[in-house]
Amino acid sequence: MRLTFTIQRFNPEVDSIPHPEEIRLDVGRGMTVLDALIRIKQECDGSLALRYSCRSAICGSCAMTINGSEKLACRTSLRKELERHGRIMVAPLRNLPVIKDLVVDMASFWEKIHDVHPWLVAAVRPARAPVPTLTEAGDHLNPQFHNVDACIMCGACVAACTVHEVSKGFVGPAALAKADRFLSDPRESTSVTRARLSSLQDENGMWDCTRCNFCVEVCPKDVKPMEAIIRLRRASLERGLTKTGGARHILGFTDLVEQQGRLNEAIMPLKVVGFAPRDLMRILPLGIKMFFKGKIPNPLGHAIPGLRNLQALIRRARRITPPA
Ligand code: SF4
Ligand code: SF4
Ligand code: FES
Repeated sequence: MRLTFTIQRFNPEVDSIPHPEEIRLDVGRGMTVLDALIRIKQECDGSLALRYSCRSAICGSCAMTINGSEKLACRTSLRKELERHGRIMVAPLRNLPVIKDLVVDMASFWEKIHDVHPWLVAAVRPARAPVPTLTEAGDHLNPQFHNVDACIMCGACVAACTVHEVSKGFVGPAALAKADRFLSDPRESTSVTRARLSSLQDENGMWDCTRCNFCVEVCPKDVKPMEAIIRLRRASLERGLTKTGGARHILGFTDLVEQQGRLNEAIMPLKVVGFAPRDLMRILPLGIKMFFKGKIPNPLGHAIPGLRNLQALIRRARRITPPA
């Protein structure tokens, strides 16, 4: 079958902006998008730039945008893409600088991974005492580190992240998942764990995630970075790291629901920003807009009927929530 591929091309030496280019190729059964791109490079246009190595969904280097979403080209079937989209459009990973054609600059990705110290900082122990093996340390409780170890550093989650799209400083789903992996390692001391969590409290850290779930959807290895971020947040709250707006939002929300049985938008901002005049002035315009749109309920409104039952449920949930 002869197929038309639309490939986003960009050569920094001659192009000012990227542009789509159509290339036709005879394809066979069972081919992946990567198979086709390699054939295009070999048979149609040797100047096409792309990255690949293992061709087996192991090295993570062939991540790109295929028909609008982030995928590994080596494990994306041409036939399935055609069935689903009726076309094959290929572009580089989004929200990362393009070096040439389908090759992006991953420097910022690696810097962020490096910044979370992706190595084991073992607890201080007497000289010559051996580092415990994972089994000795109790890995049977957590043998897969929630599958975070499966990450192949392909960058697909970062390219798809809606926060990274607007805020390039955001540490991002891959680095946060990596931080969570060490949080789950029983060989790290409690002080190291606390230091790890503390370093991720600031702007661009764990609380900036909007829980859009795109990182989970695109991850080819089922790492579920967003769930890792939720574990980091829970662990922070359990260790009393509650100064950030995100942490205060969660605690305020829970307080209100426990007291009144529902969210009260009139009180919620005070729970998040407190009574500091400067912060209150910052949110005042939003409050005025909400007021005129009828979105601010009576701050002294009554609790919902059956509040006691709800409070009993919350207490029960707290008792059975597993540790992060
Ligand atoms: S869930 Fe959070 S980290 Fe994941 S893509 Fe959305 S904003 Fe980014
Ligand atoms: S978490 Fe998934 S999508 Fe993100 S870099 Fe790792 S393997 Fe790729
Ligand atoms: S070529 Fe290695 S993951 Fe695709």
